[in-house]
Amino acid sequence: MSSLEYGPSDLGAYGEPRIEGQASAGAGPMNTLERVAQLVRTCTDCPLGRGRTNAVPGEGNPQAEVMFIGEGPGYQEDRQGRPFVGPAGKLLEGLLASIGSHRDDVFIANMVKCRPPENRDPSSAEMAACTKYLDRQIELVNPKLIVTLGRFAFGRYFPGEGITKARGILREKDGRKIFPVLHPAAVLRREELRPTMIEDFRAISEILEGGIEDSGMEPVVTTPEAPQPAQLSFVAAPGPAAIMVAQAETSTVNVEEAPRPEQLTLF
Ligand code: SF4
Ligand code: URA
Repeated sequence: MSSLEYGPSDLGAYGEPRIEGQASAGAGPMNTLERVAQLVRTCTDCPLGRGRTNAVPGEGNPQAEVMFIGEGPGYQEDRQGRPFVGPAGKLLEGLLASIGSHRDDVFIANMVKCRPPENRDPSSAEMAACTKYLDRQIELVNPKLIVTLGRFAFGRYFPGEGITKARGILREKDGRKIFPVLHPAAVLRREELRPTMIEDFRAISEILEGGIEDSGMEPVVTTPEAPQPAQLSFVAAPGPAAIMVAQAETSTVNVEEAPRPEQLTLF
């Protein structure tokens, strides 16, 4: 089968005929995140399905206030079947720790659920074939805020725009709050982007603390001169936030030393 011939397979994951127009409806409606994940793990709807070791459906808190959308699995993700578990994932975890959060508090997904060969960019057709799963994950989690990581996830909402100009500005699309940031892998390649990324994560915390409604659609100020948030946890309750402020003040995110804020109930 050439790469142009793929399309929804006639049979669902469990051999049932698919129903046109409903996302993988032949394998039953995607009523739960676990059901979505099951369907992803057996999906062959695009060529990426043939090259994978493990599909990477996405994971996290089913009631997360924040959902992160990356590009697609890399080498480690493909091996482990989990999103952001390689170097970019370590950076993402450090950034989350810098605002008093943790990967278990949020939901992490990708544009495509199977690794593109040699980590090439996912094609438009592959992203289109895979979008039904992400669409449903967003519906089910119903996050208050979607943080797009890098240009592909940003392009899902604002095609044709550049991420460099758009990052760090809270937007709305189809009734959802979208906050675009750089991709952690880009920050690993270009160390000079790290402070920007730290600022953008601090802004995520501010958006959530201030209440999304309050923040409106004004651009979020992310200059270094911006006043520091009084505390960086996602809840209003006072807590050991001073530690997190101190942590966030450091110019590098040190994953090894980042405290795990067990004591903060974020959501
Ligand atoms: Fe299916 Fe998405 Fe994997 Fe393609 S990338 S095979 S559409 S799960
Ligand atoms: N990069 C991504 O975009 N997603 C992952 O899951 C890992 C790295």
